[in-house]
Amino acid sequence: MEEFKQVHAQILKLGLFLDSFCGSNLVATCALSKWGSMEYACSIFRQIEEPGSFEYNTMIRGRVNNMNLEETLFLYVEMLERGIEPDKFTYPFVFKACSLLGALKEGVQIHGHIFKAGLDGDTFVQNSLISMYGKCGAIKHAYAVFEQMDERSVASWSAIIGALHKDPMEFKPERFLRHDKGDAKFDLKGTIDIKMMPFGAGRRVCPAISMATLHLEYFVANLVRDFKWTLEEGCEVDMSEKQVFSIVMKNPLRPCVSPRINHLKTSI
Ligand code: HEM
Repeated sequence: MEEFKQVHAQILKLGLFLDSFCGSNLVATCALSKWGSMEYACSIFRQIEEPGSFEYNTMIRGRVNNMNLEETLFLYVEMLERGIEPDKFTYPFVFKACSLLGALKEGVQIHGHIFKAGLDGDTFVQNSLISMYGKCGAIKHAYAVFEQMDERSVASWSAIIGALHKDPMEFKPERFLRHDKGDAKFDLKGTIDIKMMPFGAGRRVCPAISMATLHLEYFVANLVRDFKWTLEEGCEVDMSEKQVFSIVMKNPLRPCVSPRINHLKTSI
C-alpha cells in the first residue's frame, strides 16, 4: 500500500490524474487488490470529476467484496441519480449485495431496472438474478427467470440448482421437510416450492398418494421391526458420494439382514 501511495503521489505531481485512464486504474487497483484499501480507493474516486460506469462498477464491486453492502446500494442509487447508465457488470454485484442483505424488496425493484436498461436478456445478469432470488428465498421468482431464459449456461444451471437446494451435492434428505405450525411435514406434491414430487402434481397426481405414503411408512417400519440390520464384517457406513445419473453412494452399503423373529427365518 505504501508503494501504491507513492505512485499515486507521482501521478498527481506529473499532472496525470486528470487523464481519466489513470484515475480509474488507480481506483480499480486500490479497490480490488487484496492489499488495497476501500477508504483510500474512495478518496481517489471522489476526486474524479466525471466518473463513468467503469469507475462506479469498480467501487460497487469493491464495496461488495468488503461486505459494505448498504453502501453498495447507495452507490448504485447515486449512479442512477447522476444519470450514469449501469451495465451488465453493475447488476451482478448489486444483486449480490441484495442477496447478502436478504433485501428482496430492493432486489425486485432493481429487477425492474434491468428491463429499462435492456439487459433482461443478458445471461450474466439473469444468472445473478436467479442467485439473488434463491438466496432471498423467493424460489418461484428464481424459477420464473430461469424459465424465461433463451440461453442457459452452466452457471445458470448451477444458480437454479443452488436456489432450489442449498448444498445441492450433499445428502440432506431433511431439505424436503416443510414446517407447518411447528410440525415437520414432507411437501410431497411440490405445492409450496417445487423441490420434489414423487407422486406427480396437478390433475394427474397419483390418486393413491395417502394410501401409498401410509404403506411406505408401514413397509419401512416392518423392515426395521422384523429384521436386524448390521454391517458386513470390517465394513463401515461411508457417506461419500459419486455422480452417475444422480448422486449415489461411492462405496455401496453392504448390509447383513437377519430376522428378529424365529418364524421369519424359514421365509428368507
Ligand atoms: C410409493 C408408491 C407410489 C408412487 C411413488 C406413485 C407415483 C405415481 C406417479 C408419479 C403417477 C403419475 C402422475 C402424473 O402423471 O403426473 C401416478 C399415477 C397413478 N397412480 Fe400412483 N404411485 C404410487 C402408488 C400407487 C398405488 C398404491 C396406487 C393404487 C392403489 C396408485 C394409483 C395410481 C393411478 C390410478 C395413477 C394414474 C392417475 C391418472 O393418470 O389420472 N399409485 N402414481
